[in-house]
Amino acid sequence: MTISKKISNICCIGAGYVGGPTMAVIASNCSDIKVKVVDVNPNRIADWNSSNLEELPIYEPGLKEIIAKVRGKNLFFSTDIENSIREAQIIFISVNTPTKTYGKGKGMAADLKYIELCARKIAEVATEEKIIVEKSTIPVRTAQTIKTILENTGNNIKFQILSNPEFLAEGTAIEDLQNANRMLIGGDNSTKEGQDAIACLSSIYERWLPKERIIKTNVWSSELSKLTANAFLAQRVSSINAISALCEKTGADIDEVARAIGADNRIGSKFINASVGFGGSCFQKDILNLVYISKSLGLKEVADYWEQVLLINDYQKMRFAENIVNNLFNTVSGKKIAFLGWAFKKNTNDTRETAAMYVANFLLDETAFIHVYDPTVKSNQIFKDLELLSSRTTEENHKLLKVDTDPYQACKESHAVAILTEWDEFINYDWQKIYDNMKKPAFVFDGRNILNSDKLKEIGFKVYQIGK
Ligand code: UDX
Ligand code: UDX
Repeated sequence: MTISKKISNICCIGAGYVGGPTMAVIASNCSDIKVKVVDVNPNRIADWNSSNLEELPIYEPGLKEIIAKVRGKNLFFSTDIENSIREAQIIFISVNTPTKTYGKGKGMAADLKYIELCARKIAEVATEEKIIVEKSTIPVRTAQTIKTILENTGNNIKFQILSNPEFLAEGTAIEDLQNANRMLIGGDNSTKEGQDAIACLSSIYERWLPKERIIKTNVWSSELSKLTANAFLAQRVSSINAISALCEKTGADIDEVARAIGADNRIGSKFINASVGFGGSCFQKDILNLVYISKSLGLKEVADYWEQVLLINDYQKMRFAENIVNNLFNTVSGKKIAFLGWAFKKNTNDTRETAAMYVANFLLDETAFIHVYDPTVKSNQIFKDLELLSSRTTEENHKLLKVDTDPYQACKESHAVAILTEWDEFINYDWQKIYDNMKKPAFVFDGRNILNSDKLKEIGFKVYQIGK
């Protein structure tokens, strides 16, 4: 491999939640490197280039400040995929890999069609050797697929494929990138060329991260580590959520249990907040992927073990929704229910796999009227999410669900308020004012355990929290 140690151009295919912030942070730490983020979607690129930084396609704390600093200097957003590939010595692939919705592995396996398209495009236009970096979450051994395509359809050019999974969490992506507690690089460490490629990518991250935080492994370990990390995190949430159901039947309090077990430093206090269920683009998809791979390899027991994490998550969402119906005297038909929050967690406008849409879908099936307020999620996204579930016509969704831009308006005249996302602002609302304007008895279903239930009860609310 003769890729010069001096990297002057980086390209990233996919200007999404991962590609955008990751490249912004690389550009801000490497002023001598030209970083180009390309995407097949011209609207997305236009939004990234918008002069109004409020219109960036994703909301992420700290992102717009970095964009303001580096965009147009050494960070560029473009639809010119071919030239950007040609110029770059390192190409990150950061396109989406959704769960397959058709054919073999439908509903479980990751759909690699966009990854394959990227590999074919690179093979077609590259004129010199390059390092290809998998940033997207992918099944184990995808690097081999990329390699085979590059070697068989290219112009006899050599490529090194590295796996460099992303561990950023939305809402804290910039901090997670700038101050990553580990950076994983997997490559062909059995050859000199592979080792050089790993060292080359590592040298980029070493500009701002201490060397000891960069973990180097073989490609397969790196790919599997990403799936495993997400499976472990999701498992913790399902574990605490399973116990929350038990708390509700026994009089134990899930927050007290979480505090008690979290004080054991072998368990630790993070990721044991009971909730209405986890969402996000990764947890479900990655576990389905793990389950599919295990099944394909004849490891049924392993597949069943991990699948249970998802079953508990579905159970938790449905439990929350059913509880609303049960408490509202077994019918929500024609009743107004206010949803505070739609995003899958706070500090993001991402709604992929958000628990809110499944809870809403259940209540809409019961012909409830829902009014949603979320500080960042736009109205058209909420309707898109519902469409995805194909439960009713667009007209019916619009008839039953409204999106408000004012939380007090959303709650006005409602029978119940449900907290679906843990946005900080909900805590400090004027709950007396909300109560005064609601139908009585006024219910609060706190799916994130963020509100002070004693205060709410004093006001007169009937309060339901998870695991209490
Ligand atoms: C990321 C990861 O890359 C994915 O593996 C992970 O599991 C979820 O998070 P993310 O950045 O969140 O994906 O996805 P998304 O916001 O959908 O962005 C992907 C972008 O790639 C889109 O803007 C899409 O237009 C673009 N794309 C897709 C291409 O440019 N080319 C393609 O062929 C396909
Ligand atoms: C996750 C991983 O954390 C990250 O490392 C990976 O790169 C991508 O997937 P993300 O999905 O952005 O990140 O958010 P995360 O903070 O992990 O939350 C996932 C879901 O779990 C959210 O819906 C969140 O509300 C929920 N959650 C998290 C809980 O319900 N309880 C908890 O204690 C923690």
